[in-house]
Amino acid sequence: MTATLPRETVGTGRVVWFTGLSGAGKSTLASALYEELINRGEQVELLDGDAVRENLSKGLGFTKADRDTNVRRIAFVAGLLAKHGVTVLVSAISPYAETRREVLASLPNPTEVFVDAPLEVVTERDVKGLYLKALAGEIAHFTGVSDPYEAPENPDLHLHTDRISVHDGVKQLLDHLGVDA
Ligand code: PPS
Repeated sequence: MTATLPRETVGTGRVVWFTGLSGAGKSTLASALYEELINRGEQVELLDGDAVRENLSKGLGFTKADRDTNVRRIAFVAGLLAKHGVTVLVSAISPYAETRREVLASLPNPTEVFVDAPLEVVTERDVKGLYLKALAGEIAHFTGVSDPYEAPENPDLHLHTDRISVHDGVKQLLDHLGVDA
C-alpha cells in the first residue's frame, strides 16, 4: 500500500524574507541569491517590493495600514508558492515588527533576514534619489526619515551591507539555508 502524505505537507518550500531600509541592499541580495538557487536547479520565485507595488499592490501607499496590507498580500502569495515546494524570496521594507512576526509565523520554513545599513549610509548611497527628496520634505512617510523602521530584534540572519560584499552576503545566506556554496 502506498503511504499518502497530507496534501499540505507535500513539497513544502520555504520563505526567505529580506527586511531593511530602502537602499540597504534587499533586492540586490535577493536577486543574487535567486541566481545561485536557480543555478542549483531549485524552484525559486522572487517577490520584490517594487514589482509587487506595480502589480499585486498597485494603488497602495505608504501609511501603516497600506504597508501592512502590502506585506500581508506578499505573505499570502509567498505561502501559496511555498506550499508547492517553491523557495520564495521576499524583498520588502516591511517596517513593522509585529506585522513581520505575524506573517512570518504563518509561513512554512521562514527565514527573516535583516539587511542592515545605517541611515547615513543609505542616504549617502541614495540609489534612487529618494532620500534627497524625502529629506527635502517632498516625500511623505519615507521610511527612516519621516516614517518608522522597526529593526528585527532577533533576525535569523543579520547582514551588515556596509561591511560585507554581496558575494559574502550570498555565501552567508547559502550557509544559513544549508545549500552548498
Ligand atoms: S513596504 O513598507 O514593505 O510596504 O514597502 P515596499 O513595498 O518594500 O516598497 C518600498 C519601495 O517603495 C519606494 N518608496 C518608498 N519607500 C519607503 N517609504 C516611502 N514613503 C516610499 N515611497 C516610495 C522605494 O523605492 C522602496 O524601494 P526599496 O527597494 O526598498 O528601495
